[in-house]
Amino acid sequence: METPPPWRVLEFYSGIGGMRYSLASSGVRAEVVEAFDINDVANDVYEHNFGHRPCQGNIQTLTAGDLDKYKAHAWLLSPPCQPYTRQGLQKHSADARAFSFIKILNLMQNMSFPPQMLFVENVVGFEVSDTHDQLLAVLSTLSFNTQEFILSPLQFGVPYSRPRYFCLAKQESMCFPNPSVNDKLLRTPTCLTLNTTRTQNSYDQNEDDLEVVCNPIRNFLEAQSIGDKESSAIISDFKEADGCTPIETASHDYTVPLSLIERWGNAMDIVYPESKRCCCFTKSYYRYVKGTGSVLVTSKVRLFSFLSSVPVFSFFAPLTLWCHLIIFTIPYFVIMFFKL
Ligand SMILES: C[S@@+](CC[C@H](N)C(=O)[O-])C[C@H]1O[C@@H](n2cnc3c(N)ncnc32)[C@H](O)[C@@H]1O
Repeated sequence: METPPPWRVLEFYSGIGGMRYSLASSGVRAEVVEAFDINDVANDVYEHNFGHRPCQGNIQTLTAGDLDKYKAHAWLLSPPCQPYTRQGLQKHSADARAFSFIKILNLMQNMSFPPQMLFVENVVGFEVSDTHDQLLAVLSTLSFNTQEFILSPLQFGVPYSRPRYFCLAKQESMCFPNPSVNDKLLRTPTCLTLNTTRTQNSYDQNEDDLEVVCNPIRNFLEAQSIGDKESSAIISDFKEADGCTPIETASHDYTVPLSLIERWGNAMDIVYPESKRCCCFTKSYYRYVKGTGSVLVTSKVRLFSFLSSVPVFSFFAPLTLWCHLIIFTIPYFVIMFFKL
């Protein structure tokens, strides 16, 4: 039997390519036929990693004709979250940063080849916004079924507390395996595991309950097992290599200066290699201590180091960590979205 051609996918707000990475690692036969982002630095990173430079520009300027020409089966969208964050002004659709997404929703209604599947990711808070209402209204008009989730990487064994909103949408002709949860917002992915015997209530799990099944941070560190012995060895290596003290040497890397620890230690979210959570990283990581991300204790002598051990883009190390943790989560959705 002839293998069907891969899904044609458009990636909106592609950033550094978390969605694309997830799609690739999911094993789904799909091809990103175009990606769109306005940020040239993000596009540099994306190009470096995927060998394809996203279409650079404002998504708001796209037309239905522009998008029709791709004849894409699926759209992946992670629009700006600032209009919906709890810390922000919560202007929702009135925030200029929401305009491009609303434009996309409007375009969908005027296309000759609209997508058959949609995957939208955003912050918690999006689900109570008027933009969310518009999203669901457009999807309903175009006869899509939706399943919505608020999920955290913790629920996938990744020690990162970052609950996010996800919307899966499929045209009615492409059924979800668990239609009983259509039009529902769930806080657990259990229904995606094809276990249709569970009751609706048993789908609801507390994020905290799931920490127990989470993998420890050490499993995600570059040096896979930073224990007392190993970290001492790392520190000795520093000493031998540069002829200076471990703390002096490590300060060239990601070590938090002792002065900072003395002054702000109480405000830091401190985690250990064996911890099964760390908190959400923001762009203020390094610049501000409180609420911007966790710091990792890397040795018994209380040498602290910023948690930044994923090596792929070392210059953007904290961002990389964020990226890896969140995208470890996404493949599951993409698999479910495409395969089921
Ligand atoms: C939440 S981030 C997406 C992150 C992405 N999923 C990743 O893996 O890196 C939003 C992205 O949308 C881009 N963006 C925001 N407004 C845009 C617009 N009007 N047109 C194109 N890109 C836009 C930003 O540059 C940013 O990279």
